[in-house]
Amino acid sequence: MPNLFSPYTLKDVTLRNRIAMSPMTMYSSVEGRLDDYHVSYLGARAAGGFGLVFGEQMAITPDGRTTKSCAGIWSDDQIEGHARVAAIIERMGGVPAIQLGHTGRKGSELPPHKGTNSEGTWRQLPPDHPDGWTCKAPSAIPYGGGGHTYPVHALTVDEIKALHQSYADAARRALEAGYKWLEMHYAHGYLGASFFSPLANQRTDQYGGSVENRVRFHLEALDAVRAVWPERYPLTMRLGSDDLHPAGTQFEDSIVAIGMMKEHGLDLADLSLGFNTDEMVAAPMNEVGFMLERAHRVRREVGIPVATSWNLGIPANADRAVREEQVDLVMLGRPALANPHWPVWAARELGHDDPFSLVPQDWAWWLRNFRGHQGSIGWPDAGAKAEQASAARDRI
Ligand SMILES: Cc1cc2nc3c(=O)[nH]c(=O)nc-3n(C[C@H](O)[C@H](O)[C@H](O)COP(=O)(O)O)c2cc1C
Repeated sequence: MPNLFSPYTLKDVTLRNRIAMSPMTMYSSVEGRLDDYHVSYLGARAAGGFGLVFGEQMAITPDGRTTKSCAGIWSDDQIEGHARVAAIIERMGGVPAIQLGHTGRKGSELPPHKGTNSEGTWRQLPPDHPDGWTCKAPSAIPYGGGGHTYPVHALTVDEIKALHQSYADAARRALEAGYKWLEMHYAHGYLGASFFSPLANQRTDQYGGSVENRVRFHLEALDAVRAVWPERYPLTMRLGSDDLHPAGTQFEDSIVAIGMMKEHGLDLADLSLGFNTDEMVAAPMNEVGFMLERAHRVRREVGIPVATSWNLGIPANADRAVREEQVDLVMLGRPALANPHWPVWAARELGHDDPFSLVPQDWAWWLRNFRGHQGSIGWPDAGAKAEQASAARDRI
C-alpha cells in the first residue's frame, strides 16, 4: 500500500514521493518573465522535498494573465527564465512541472496585495485602464462576482482555434525549457472552466450546449498540446469539476467529460472546483480535503490517476488520502507557501525513519550525523524524535 512518501511513476517520470507543490500565482513577474525571485522560491520548495514542483499558471497569451504582473510562456524570450527554474528544481531532486492557462473572464485584475474591491475580494480593472484589457470568454457574459462586471468578448471559432495553437506553442516552449510534466488549468473560473460551465457558456454552436460540445474546447486543446508534448511525459488537467450551483457545472457531467479526455491522452485528472460563480451553494471551503471524495470517484469510475488539493496541510490527512488510495498525488498550495520544508516536517511528524532523506544529500549528511545535537535544529522536541529515528535506523 503506498504512503505519502512512496515514489510515484507516471509515464516515464518518477517522483520521489506523492507530494506536489500546487500551482500558485505570485504576481511578481516583469513582462511575464521568471527571474531570480522564481528560481529562489521554487528551488527552495524542491530542496524542501516536494516531489513535483509547479510554479504558477503560465499564461499562453498576454491577455491570458490574471494581472500584468503575472507570468507567462507566450514568447520564445521567456524560455530562458523557465529553463533556469526547471534546472534548479531538478538539481534539488524535484520534477519541474508547468501549468498552462488562460484566465478568460477572470483576467484584467489588480494584484490582490495591491488592493481589493469593496467586498474584500479580487478587483478587476476596466479595459481602458493602463493595466487592464477586455477579457475573453465563451459567451459575452461577465463573471459578475467580485466586481467583474466589465463587458467581455465572446470568442469566435477562429479565435478558439488560434488559442489552441497558442497552447501548443506554449507546450513546445515548456519542453524546450526542460519541464517534464504539463498541466492545463481548466478550473477556477478561467477560460477552460468557463467553456464547461453553462453559467458562462451559452453558445449555440459546436462549443456550447451538450456535455460533448462543452468539452470540445478541452479535447481540441489536449490534441493540440499532445502533438508537441511527448508521450513519455505526463499531460494532466486541473478541472473545474463542480460549480456547486444548480445551473452550473455538474460533477456527474465532469465524470463523463474526463472519460472523454482520457481517450484524448489525459494522463491524470487534478480535481478542483469550477469557481464560475460567487453564488456557490454550501461551499465547503473550510472542510478538510473536501475534493477527496470526488477525486476518488473519478479514479474508480473513469480508471485514471487523480490528484487534488484543498485543506490537506495536516500531514496525517495527506498521508491517509494516499494510503486509502483516494488520490495518487496530494497537491499542497498554502502549506507550501508557509513552509518550504513541509515534506521534511511532515516526514518527521509521521514517524518516517529518515526525514532528511528528503533534502539534498550534501546537507542531509550534516543533519543526520550531528548526533547528540539534533535539538539544535530548533524543531520542538526535535531531539527526542531524531533519537527515535536514529535508534530505528541503527536497528536496520
Ligand atoms: C496565492 C495563491 C495562488 C494560486 N494560484 C493558482 C494558480 O495559478 N493555479 C491553480 O491551479 N491554482 C492556484 N491556486 C490554488 C492552489 O493551487 C490550491 O489548489 C489551493 O490553494 C488549495 O490548496 P491548499 O488548501 O493546499 O492551499 C492558488 C492559491 C493561492 C493561495
